[in-house]
Amino acid sequence: MADDKLIIFDTTLRDGEQAPGFSMNTPEKLKLARQLQTLGVDVLEAGFPIASSDDAEAVQLIASEIKGPVIAGLARCDRADIECVAESVKAAERARIHTFIATSDLHLERKLRISREECLQSVVDNVSLARGFTDDVEFSAEDATRSDLDFLCRIVETAIACGATTVNLPDTVGYCTPDEIQQFFTDLIERVPNSDKAVFSTHCHDDLGLAVANSLAAVRGGCRQVECTINGVGERAGNASLEEIVMVTRVRGDLVPYTTGIDTTAIFSTSQMLSELTREPVQSNKAIVGRNAFAHEAGIHQDGVIKDRRTYEIMRPADVGVAQSTLVLGKHSGRHAVKQRCEQLGVELSRLELDRVYRAMIDLADRQKTVEDSDLSAIIAEVHTRQAAGAA
Ligand code: KIV
Ligand code: ZN
Repeated sequence: MADDKLIIFDTTLRDGEQAPGFSMNTPEKLKLARQLQTLGVDVLEAGFPIASSDDAEAVQLIASEIKGPVIAGLARCDRADIECVAESVKAAERARIHTFIATSDLHLERKLRISREECLQSVVDNVSLARGFTDDVEFSAEDATRSDLDFLCRIVETAIACGATTVNLPDTVGYCTPDEIQQFFTDLIERVPNSDKAVFSTHCHDDLGLAVANSLAAVRGGCRQVECTINGVGERAGNASLEEIVMVTRVRGDLVPYTTGIDTTAIFSTSQMLSELTREPVQSNKAIVGRNAFAHEAGIHQDGVIKDRRTYEIMRPADVGVAQSTLVLGKHSGRHAVKQRCEQLGVELSRLELDRVYRAMIDLADRQKTVEDSDLSAIIAEVHTRQAAGAA
């Protein structure tokens, strides 16, 4: 694999789907999985099969229908979980078993109630078990970034020795800062003697709004797989957003020199599909895919965009599959945008007419948030009627 290629691991159907409000039924999951295939994700985590028979059924269907991406299923470090994933993904062209156990003392003592040595033994037993089913095994150390580094190094070395080909070190509770996570991966990869035998992966949550920044810093620290979700959905504040990670590499390739296999023109339709399937709206100011990401209302911005789009846009809407930028007519808009919108409606206005239409538009915008094409057409008709009456 080229050293500058990032493996995009999509977990929308697992970490995303398990968040409140984002559950989907099997046909909906399959529909989204087909779209993720079109988008070009490298690894598609299809679900957590042991969680329910519906989950297992959806993972099985996705494994048999979707060609291209590696199909992964999640399992705790537990025999029944791993056997269930192995069964669910066995029809896939390329199948991955993703097994995890928490490694921080907080999780070991308070949640799992096991010792560090028991945790280590579970990694030995379960990574080896998973490796018996497939040669593509991912091991995740849950709450890795709050784990004791010496212990985590032992865990990672053991997982690799037992056959893990990808090692994922999640920032499970979104606690890290970018400098910290970069150093964390740099130190760990340097200290683990067999680290060259596995791909390192980052999985960042957004509790402090740093998931994307942390994922990119982790890449600087040596990760080559990034786990992310469409629209950044996921547990609590969500996961790193796939579209943001990918577009940073596109727009700022000078500073983030990595490639991905993502067809960026399918980003917007994928985001819309997820929102429609889950009936969860995308935040309007969401980077890349929000309704306002390519919309301009302020007069100064509209004037700039009309003269040269690049004054206020750092990427072309078409690059992410958005048809075009929109100049929203509202109380902050200027005459340039009103003139352009009238022209788009096929109406040429004199200076005086434009002035009247503009003032009527601002009046209306004071009463309602935005002025739609139908409102503008009504205003133009009214101005024309008054003018004709005045002239008669
Ligand atoms: O956030 C997390 O730690 C996870 C793991 C199960 C991969 O989602
Ligand atoms: Zn997670």
